[in-house]
Amino acid sequence: MSDLESLRGRVAIVTGAGQGTGGVGRAIALLLAARGAHVLVTDIASSVEQTATEIVAATSAQVLHVVSDLSHEAGANEVIDRAVERWGRLDILVNNAGGGIIRPFLEHTPQTLRETVDRNLWTAIWCSYFALPHMRKQSFGRIVNIGADSVRNGLWDHAGYNAAKGGVHGMTTGLAREFAAQDITVNTVAPCVVDSERLRTRMQEQPELTGKVLGIVPKGRAVKASEIASLVAYLASEDAAFITGQVVSINGGSTML
Ligand SMILES: NC(=O)c1ccc[n+]([C@@H]2O[C@H](COP(=O)([O-])OP(=O)(O)OC[C@H]3O[C@@H](n4cnc5c(N)ncnc54)[C@H](O)[C@@H]3O)[C@@H](O)[C@H]2O)c1
Repeated sequence: MSDLESLRGRVAIVTGAGQGTGGVGRAIALLLAARGAHVLVTDIASSVEQTATEIVAATSAQVLHVVSDLSHEAGANEVIDRAVERWGRLDILVNNAGGGIIRPFLEHTPQTLRETVDRNLWTAIWCSYFALPHMRKQSFGRIVNIGADSVRNGLWDHAGYNAAKGGVHGMTTGLAREFAAQDITVNTVAPCVVDSERLRTRMQEQPELTGKVLGIVPKGRAVKASEIASLVAYLASEDAAFITGQVVSINGGSTML
């Protein structure tokens, strides 16, 4: 690891860092902490406390955890304030909170559609909105969103989810341009299907699902949370200063270019 890749002394927030389906937020928070960042982990689920305990056990990072609904303005504002109160700055925001309600479009209810947009898009909008003034003031910032490769490959049953994640991809380019002069980069990491206990159980129960899910991935497997974390940590580092406004797929070749 180069000195530039080190996150020593940086202050990071990772959203959706409870013990979620694929454990992506948890893996990201653990890696940022291992590289030297102080980390605030937050989630609507109280299991985020467990993530904080794991980080304390595994690293020497300072850690805070906050249970909050980030789809609401007040919840997001509180989380950003807590980090700045504690450490006096905010360098890295990872907008990982989300989660799909995956079904054919017409099988959604108005409530599931709203929930999909709340979880995936409003959380990212509000956290970015309250984080950016601090990043601008200190002339440094790294925002990394977790999007979805399904926006690019038009995956089955993903229209509602893609509407939300597509908004995240779109916000990436706009913010990147607006804040480039202040050394603030904004990028999105777009996974294809993430390896998880739930996915493996579902594929065992419904073998036909394996072909449907993995058939579109030339590498023939799901992405590991640790692989996503590694890319996020790179984009959050000083080494990645010239990468901004990008949606970087981590997808085993599911879409190319
Ligand atoms: N699992 C996959 O196959 C897959 C594929 C592509 C993209 N993604 C995205 O990757 C990210 C991580 O996915 P995952 O599978 O690890 O976990 P996940 O889908 O279970 O969700 C991540 C976390 O976000 C939290 N969250 C949801 N709404 C929230 C809110 N309003 N406020 C605060 N926290 C909230 C959840 O409690 C959960 O812990 C998500 O953004 C997800 O949409 C996942």
